[in-house]
Amino acid sequence: MTRLSTVGGLLAQAAATYAFTCQSSAGATYNATSTYLGCYTGGTSILSAAKLSTIAMTPQLCTTWCGERGFAYGGVVFGTFVATTPQRQEQCFCDHQPNYSMSKKVADTQCSDLCTTDPSQRCGGGYIMSLYQITNAEASTGASLFTPACLTSPLCSHQVCDTSLSTSARIASLISELTEEEKILNLVDAAAGSSRIGLPPYEWWSEATHGVGSAPGVQFTNMPNNFSYATSFPAPILSSAAFDDDLIFQIGEVVGREGRAFGNNGFAGFDYWVRNAFSSNAADY
Ligand SMILES: *[C@@H]1O[C@H](CO)[C@@H](O)[C@H](O)[C@H]1NC(C)=O
Ligand SMILES: *[C@@H]1O[C@H](CO)[C@@H](O)[C@H](O)[C@H]1NC(C)=O
Ligand SMILES: *[C@@H]1O[C@H](CO)[C@@H](O)[C@H](O)[C@H]1NC(C)=O
Repeated sequence: MTRLSTVGGLLAQAAATYAFTCQSSAGATYNATSTYLGCYTGGTSILSAAKLSTIAMTPQLCTTWCGERGFAYGGVVFGTFVATTPQRQEQCFCDHQPNYSMSKKVADTQCSDLCTTDPSQRCGGGYIMSLYQITNAEASTGASLFTPACLTSPLCSHQVCDTSLSTSARIASLISELTEEEKILNLVDAAAGSSRIGLPPYEWWSEATHGVGSAPGVQFTNMPNNFSYATSFPAPILSSAAFDDDLIFQIGEVVGREGRAFGNNGFAGFDYWVRNAFSSNAADY
């Protein structure tokens, strides 16, 4: 009972924070202006306060995403996430200040990967960042990096945000509003959303097999900041060898609490992928 009410309390707290009336001025009107600073190695070490993965990445989308969260810097990296089974991930990183200690400026030609859905633009390089300074970053509210999409315009005026409707009616209305191309761009983990109706991009691939872990949807900040680490438990195959259901429940409770905290503060998604069976891939452990 105690355990369940703790989780319920967290959800209620999140909901109460967001009393809201849909207005055309709510969210989504911001558009960043930025200056290109150059191409840098050491990609993700330069900016680490927030991260977005989406197949629809462009430098403008990235700087706007960072700028509306109050960050003065944004950078795009077209990295290969898993070395053994290459997954191309166009990622955007944000921060208040760049940290160049692990990086080096290189020729612009090294930032020559084309953005997947807009090949007329360039999206950095493999582990190499196209770095931008945002000249009109919005003052950060400081409260949270995460605003539920239905609290922003124009999405809030769509039926998908009408909580008096059933979940299935809301989902059906959203799908009926998407064009065929938008539907396709939302079938990958780095889902594009739809800037046309205000549906934000969303990375479905956050992981928590044995604790919130590194994944395209999870952002760990540099030490010693908050969200620079999460509790890492033994791999499931080892925990299960204890034959202790109560222990597994307690581990799940910690993972769930930390996952919720990462999500509430914009450092991860709200869904976590978890291996449900044996895998021989060392990376899973
Ligand atoms: C945002 O600004 C960029 C660069 O100034 C511009 O190219 C783009 O059209 C603008 N987008 C919107 C939606 O206003
Ligand atoms: C910059 O990054 C390095 C390496 O991760 C770290 O040791 C250093 O503390 C960082 N500097 C700042 C100001 O955060
Ligand atoms: C972490 O968050 C707590 C609570 O908001 C805050 O008091 C503390 O200063 C933060 N620590 C760092 C290193 O930012």
